[in-house]
Amino acid sequence: MTFSTIVSLLLLQFSLTGAINPLCAAVCVCEESIEEKFVKLDCSKVYLSIVPPLDDWPINITHMDLSANNISALDFELSHDSIQVLDLSHNRISTVVQYAFGGLSKLKYLNLANNAIKTFDENGFYGLEHLKSLNLSSNGLYFLPDGLFYNFIGLQELSLADNPLVHIDPIHFNRMINLRWLDLSNIDVYTLPANIFHTTGQLEFLDLSANEFHEVPTDALRSAKVLKHLKFSENPVEILDKKSFRKLITLQVLELNSMDHLREVKEEAFSDLINLQSLEMKFNRHLTTIDRMAFDGLFNETRPTLQEIDFEANQLRTLDKDMIACARIKKFNVQKNPWVCDCNMKWMKKCEIQKIYAADLRCYEPPKLHNFLIMNLNDKQLECNYQDSPIAKSMMHHDHVVRTISVGLAAGLLVVLAFGIAVIFKWRDIRSCYRSNKKGSGAVYYVRARANPREI
Ligand SMILES: *[C@@H]1O[C@H](CO)[C@@H](O)[C@H](O)[C@H]1NC(C)=O
Ligand SMILES: *[C@@H]1O[C@H](CO)[C@@H](O)[C@H](O)[C@H]1NC(C)=O
Ligand SMILES: *[C@@H]1O[C@H](CO)[C@@H](O)[C@H](O)[C@H]1NC(C)=O
Ligand SMILES: *[C@@H]1O[C@H](CO)[C@@H](O)[C@H](O)[C@H]1NC(C)=O
Repeated sequence: MTFSTIVSLLLLQFSLTGAINPLCAAVCVCEESIEEKFVKLDCSKVYLSIVPPLDDWPINITHMDLSANNISALDFELSHDSIQVLDLSHNRISTVVQYAFGGLSKLKYLNLANNAIKTFDENGFYGLEHLKSLNLSSNGLYFLPDGLFYNFIGLQELSLADNPLVHIDPIHFNRMINLRWLDLSNIDVYTLPANIFHTTGQLEFLDLSANEFHEVPTDALRSAKVLKHLKFSENPVEILDKKSFRKLITLQVLELNSMDHLREVKEEAFSDLINLQSLEMKFNRHLTTIDRMAFDGLFNETRPTLQEIDFEANQLRTLDKDMIACARIKKFNVQKNPWVCDCNMKWMKKCEIQKIYAADLRCYEPPKLHNFLIMNLNDKQLECNYQDSPIAKSMMHHDHVVRTISVGLAAGLLVVLAFGIAVIFKWRDIRSCYRSNKKGSGAVYYVRARANPREI
């Protein structure tokens, strides 16, 4: 570096801040745009162990990036008139004093992700009246005081992901009337109160992945009146049925991936999702069964509906041809399933599957077609070996039942016939016996009649 470049750099910094800012001169990368009205300081990854004193921050700073340092505490009240974006993620912060952000009245975006915060004081976020986005993911949060989010009426985005919270209380959300985006993934939660999103009337995106739900918290979801996108992957749900997504009519995107316990999708499971555009069910390694009526009523000619279906890498062996109107779907990915290539799969060749979703669409069985690309097979190869196909099996079962019934009937008939013949041959005996019983009532008579019936 020549002397003149150093001087011009110093001058540049001079013009940036009016005076040589000590932070810009020493450790941070500073950038300013007068037209766009920002003054940004990037002080990330410079081994800071404390938040630099606010006197050292440029007077009209708008963005402060203190991420990836070694800061362990927010132990004084931050106060600055112009700062809008503050990034403190990836530090070692474990203590946050009350009113820590009390003087940051213009702050819109606060990132405290990837720290070691276990809880906050009730007034931890006091003063952040204009906050739009708060990121608290990947801390050690196990408890949230009731009033913590009290002034977040303007908050639009909140992430509480990756914290051992276990319980979520409606009180935390009841003033977030502008919340649109909420990440509650991986917080060890297994149930949600039915009315939890009653007041968060703008909520469109919700991530509940990687939790402990054994069933879909349908009532809670229904309380989010405009929910469009639900992530529900990695939850220990075993069966999805028609109660699972009951009346979630606003949902457009649904993700149900990597659910290790999911085995079966029952009839009408998705039938209420009349606005669903995209369904992702991938990498569910025990999912063997999707009922042929799972989408019943969804492919209605009169409305635009499902555009994307992704069933990649499940354990599906066959799909009913009437289940999905594949011709109307833009993305249809069913690769990496152990498909049984027989006559039941002929329909799939007519789906006009895009090349990228056909490249790994292969047969698993029968052995002679193992690993063959389904799109390369001809109709003759997709034949039903009568003993193997489910249809054949059910027909064979049917035959068996019919045969059993016929044999039973025949046997029954024979018995009746034999009985009939016997009755005819013995008719006279019986009649005589009856008559003799009527005529007299003595035991002697009876004996005589029996001894020589033809005399009577
Ligand atoms: C920041 O303040 C300095 C001097 O106080 C001024 O010259 C500069 O234009 C300001 N920048 C912005 C983006 O307002
Ligand atoms: C971070 O701070 C701790 C003490 O507070 C120190 O032991 C450690 O070496 C620091 N790490 C770095 C990368 O500076
Ligand atoms: C929260 O911060 C983490 C870590 O910096 C980041 O990966 C994540 O995308 C952030 N989330 C939001 C909503 O900003
Ligand atoms: C399709 O939807 C319309 C209106 O939503 C309804 O009246 C009609 O019965 C539906 N048709 C089928 C085949 O489900």
